[in-house]
Amino acid sequence: MSSAMDQVVHDQDVMEEEEEEELFFTEIDELQNHGINAADITKLKQAGVCTVRCVQMMTRKSLCRIKGFSEAKVDKLKEAAAKLSTASFITGLEYCVQRRKVMTISTGSKQLDELIGGGIQTMAITEAFGEFRTGKTQIGHTLCVVAQLPISMGGGNGKAAFIDTEGTFRHERIKAIAERFGIDAEAALENIVVARAYNSEHQMDLITEVAARFAEEKGIFRLLVIDSIIALFRTDFSGRGELSERQQKLNQMLSRLTKVAEEFNVAVYLTNQVQSDPGAGMTFVADPKKPVGGHIMAHASTTRLYLRKGRGEERIAKVYDSPDVPEAEAPYAISAGGIVDVS
Ligand SMILES: Nc1ncnc2c1ncn2[C@@H]1O[C@H](COP(=O)(O)OP(=O)(O)OP(=O)(O)O)[C@@H](O)[C@H]1O
Ligand SMILES: [Mg+2]
Repeated sequence: MSSAMDQVVHDQDVMEEEEEEELFFTEIDELQNHGINAADITKLKQAGVCTVRCVQMMTRKSLCRIKGFSEAKVDKLKEAAAKLSTASFITGLEYCVQRRKVMTISTGSKQLDELIGGGIQTMAITEAFGEFRTGKTQIGHTLCVVAQLPISMGGGNGKAAFIDTEGTFRHERIKAIAERFGIDAEAALENIVVARAYNSEHQMDLITEVAARFAEEKGIFRLLVIDSIIALFRTDFSGRGELSERQQKLNQMLSRLTKVAEEFNVAVYLTNQVQSDPGAGMTFVADPKKPVGGHIMAHASTTRLYLRKGRGEERIAKVYDSPDVPEAEAPYAISAGGIVDVS
């Protein structure tokens, strides 16, 4: 790259940085200045490792799985990353400052927002599970529009990415929701990237791809929706015999998503399905349903919401299994303009 070009790129970066909040990830290319060659950096990017933080988040073992990466090379890589990054002990106060970067994106319903601390949070995974027609997909669509709104309107001032595994993304819904919030429908669609996933491996590839995009378009994306996280796993792996393999692959995907959320300050919203809970028949639970995905899913989600139908058009969201929030409930409704409070 010529030095004039360098300057242009640099100026652009500076401008972007002034506009956006301060970036807190360092691009993987920086490692070139610390003895890692360009070819290896390309290989890392192809494997979905786009930031220095990601190098630190990955174990040596998983880095060694990248083609052409020996143990010695991985050691060198880890060393270079450590020089550039601050993933070490910080004071409680510094931690507090870091957490201030967390944003919340409104669901469209004030009552639902209150239930989950103001909206769905960036740097975290929010999971919604429930029976069909409870609004899991509609919440995803509403979030895609709200994520674009200014922060003063409960938005995230950013773009959204949607990984569609069930063919349920509807541009008509986005248009109607955009109208409700008074933003241009075309512009709203322009700010959403959508991909259809056809099997669970493809789903993982798309996550790698979207992470690369988050790194490329620095600080631009605020939301990643995956609707649904589990559907393709249920088709790809059948029966008890394949359950442990399924759980292992699901775990890898969720741990990748946790890293993506933290690295890029993005809110990850996942939908999940329910299965009946035979164990609950023994006790006196009125609604013996539980989310699919077992402990692995439970462990990955920061906030879990159990959605169910109420009277008429009313829906009810309940905080499920939370370590730090009481298991409260909030009603909401689905309207043409997306998720709303119950009137
Ligand atoms: N334009 C609209 N206006 C009002 N309600 C709508 C509109 N579009 C969809 N709905 C309502 O949304 C509900 C479906 O919600 P959604 O598709 O989010 O369910 P889901 O939880 O994702 O279900 P599934 O498990 O089948 O994926 C239906 O009850 C439908 O009546
Ligand atoms: Mg759905």
